[in-house]
Amino acid sequence: MSVPFDQMDGLIWFNGEFVDWKDAKVHVLTHGLHYGSSVFEGERAYGGEIFKMQEHNERLIESGRILGFTIPYSVEELNSACNELLARLGYKDAYVRPIAWRGSESMGIAAQKNKINVAIAIWQWPSYFDPEQRMKGIRLDIAEYCRPDPRTAPSKSKAAGLYMICTISKHAAEAKGYADALMLDWRGQIAEATGANVFFVKDGVIHSPTPDCFLDGITRRTIIELAKRRGYEVQVRAIRPEEMEGFSEAFLCGTAAEVTPIAEVGPYKFTPGEITRQLIDDYSAEVQPKRLAAE
Ligand SMILES: Cc1ncc(COP(=O)(O)O)c(C=O)c1O
Repeated sequence: MSVPFDQMDGLIWFNGEFVDWKDAKVHVLTHGLHYGSSVFEGERAYGGEIFKMQEHNERLIESGRILGFTIPYSVEELNSACNELLARLGYKDAYVRPIAWRGSESMGIAAQKNKINVAIAIWQWPSYFDPEQRMKGIRLDIAEYCRPDPRTAPSKSKAAGLYMICTISKHAAEAKGYADALMLDWRGQIAEATGANVFFVKDGVIHSPTPDCFLDGITRRTIIELAKRRGYEVQVRAIRPEEMEGFSEAFLCGTAAEVTPIAEVGPYKFTPGEITRQLIDDYSAEVQPKRLAAE
């Protein structure tokens, strides 16, 4: 068993201060814990630089705004905090987790005056390097839960509460021996996996579901740009699950997942191929700090 996350060594940026990792605690009567009033980000540093940090930290502020709270730091302040923490820890390849939540000043559904707390944790998480291993592809189940109608949940926010159905779905998939689950949306269209967006390939054309009720990932947008740079046609559209029968390649993408080929989704089979491999390579090159690329 590895060291539990609350007992690792390091520093955490906590409401503007750098505190010892083990001292970064909250009280049990915290609104964010009881009522899900919490938003977060997942970012990755490569070669000591955080990829698309500005976009991630802008999204953090926007996620809070959607939940009705104002994060008491500007994007620039969040960027500097992330950079300084990364430098103090001395990590090159790492995962960056900013989080904001309503505090413990009062308990109840309404918590208008509760303080908005912000913390940033960074831990080492090397990128998944072995392309051959990766090219085998992962197996996904199809989740029972669906991504909700945007009229029933703040789907544009990276809100912790939206991950409740993701954890249930991923656990159910793992219990059946799958790596993850593909979630459909409330209309029965393909949405995304529990923590990553999905792409498909057919006859040299790339297809991805319209992100109208789930996160339009920063990696997803990067992949679309990289695919277009290579001259591929990318169709962003509603995709029915039965269409998976005709797709030859499929892959997930996200900050944590990077580009992960898929071998199976329920009864549908795919063979990770040339386009997936090109995008894995292009993405790995894209995330490298520009100062390293120039060397
Ligand atoms: C549910 C979900 N969808 C998509 C993504 C991919 O988003 P991004 O590429 O911005 O990391 C993530 C990861 O953050 C996620 O948790």
